[in-house]
Amino acid sequence: MISGRILIVDDNVSLRESLAAVFLAEGFIVDQAEDGGLAIEKLGQNNYDVVITDIKMPKIGGIDVLKEAKKLNPSTVVVMMTGYGTVESAVEAMKFGAYDYLQKPFSMEEMQLRVVNGLKMRHYEHELTYLRGERNIIYHFDNFIGESPSIKKVFATLKKVSRSNASIMITGETGTGKELVAGAIHYSSQRSKNSFVKVNCAALHDNLLESELFGHEKGAYTGAVKQRIGRFEQAHRGTLFLDEIGDMSLSTQAKVLRVIQEKEFERLGGGRTIKVDVRIISATNKELPLEVQNKAFREDLYFRLNVITIKIPALRERKEDIPLLADYFLKKFAGDLKKSVRLISPGAMSLLKRYQWPGNVRELENCLERAVLMCEGSEIKREELSFMEDMEAVNGDAPAVKIPPSGILLKDMEKSLVVETLKMCNWIQKDAAEMLGISKRVMNYKVKQYNLSNPRWIKNK
Ligand SMILES: Nc1ncnc2c1ncn2[C@@H]1O[C@H](COP(=O)(O)OP(=O)(O)OP(=O)(O)O)[C@@H](O)[C@H]1O
Ligand SMILES: [Mg+2]
Repeated sequence: MISGRILIVDDNVSLRESLAAVFLAEGFIVDQAEDGGLAIEKLGQNNYDVVITDIKMPKIGGIDVLKEAKKLNPSTVVVMMTGYGTVESAVEAMKFGAYDYLQKPFSMEEMQLRVVNGLKMRHYEHELTYLRGERNIIYHFDNFIGESPSIKKVFATLKKVSRSNASIMITGETGTGKELVAGAIHYSSQRSKNSFVKVNCAALHDNLLESELFGHEKGAYTGAVKQRIGRFEQAHRGTLFLDEIGDMSLSTQAKVLRVIQEKEFERLGGGRTIKVDVRIISATNKELPLEVQNKAFREDLYFRLNVITIKIPALRERKEDIPLLADYFLKKFAGDLKKSVRLISPGAMSLLKRYQWPGNVRELENCLERAVLMCEGSEIKREELSFMEDMEAVNGDAPAVKIPPSGILLKDMEKSLVVETLKMCNWIQKDAAEMLGISKRVMNYKVKQYNLSNPRWIKNK
């Protein structure tokens, strides 16, 4: 059954009342207005799925009501009613975005049919924008890159849970892809046709966050000049993504718990109870069990949200994924920025692999964007990542070399450094030189100085 909120505008009481009765019986929330002025006032207070309006009314006519409705919400379905002699203006109304018109007298079934068709059409249009939109391209498991064992484990869990309705909590450091995963779960679930609604709980506090989540009635508090539909309502039959849930205040937590348990709530300043069916995915980079221990987070809410946990490991704990991700971002930015960069040199790659990535995948993504932007040729070289030298975590916690207890001669150290680097670069002197930050000539000199040789070099001569 299609339903929603409808506004019926006509100065004829009996017609208005009969229409109202028909749509009430269909399950619509029905409002009425007896003239254009009152209609425009109502349009400002509520969000309407459908408006049925007479064309000819004293002072403000139906065309003005139509224009206002379309201005406030382009997806509202507006059906015009015309009396004798106003068919021409009804045709004109179609130009301003009316969905259809009916000439009086009409049967109630006829009007019902037009409205239902209008709503169906609107639904298809939504679907088309959704399909055309980039949302399902961004939030897709195919775009979640990684082949390390720990990421494979995450994938395995995701596969199992995305089709269920269970609440999911995603944890992980900043930039590990929590939002990407949340979106991908929604768009591969049975709720994918309905909305994926995000709320950042850290960005708003108490009253503002509550009005964001639950909405409010007009006049609920100073500043609430219009009625507002909250995120829970918007996410009906879809998924609500509560990001940074660890930053939610205890009083808001209590209200969210109630929605999860009872599946209902009231708008701020409103008495009507609203029922919702929402799947909740939450994310945090805080240690919630610790917050629970410190009584900063409600234990009961924690267990409700945390039916399934997905922990996304930090990038430095799965360094195997770095080349894969770097290559993915290289292609993405080369395309976006229309550059002909295709490769990452071994020297540059070894720097990427050595770095600790405190900002995780987001930081790697930014780093590649910058490198692609600066790169002149077809390969990203170590020099193009020179800005990374200033980033503190380049050397990580581990020292770059291990000194044997007996000590080591500097020249022996240098020799083994050169040999190890050459091995790593398949004995290609140019690449090894780049990795060590020396010129090709200096590398050639070192090779002679330490009397190094390799079958490869002879073969290539
Ligand atoms: N495995 C991955 N494959 C491809 N892109 C990724 C991956 N992980 C993260 N990203 C990208 O990294 C960026 C950061 O990801 P996202 O916003 O999902 O992180 P987050 O964990 O929500 O971070 P924060 O805690 O700071 O909000 C996004 O551009 C996302 O597309
Ligand atoms: Mg995030």
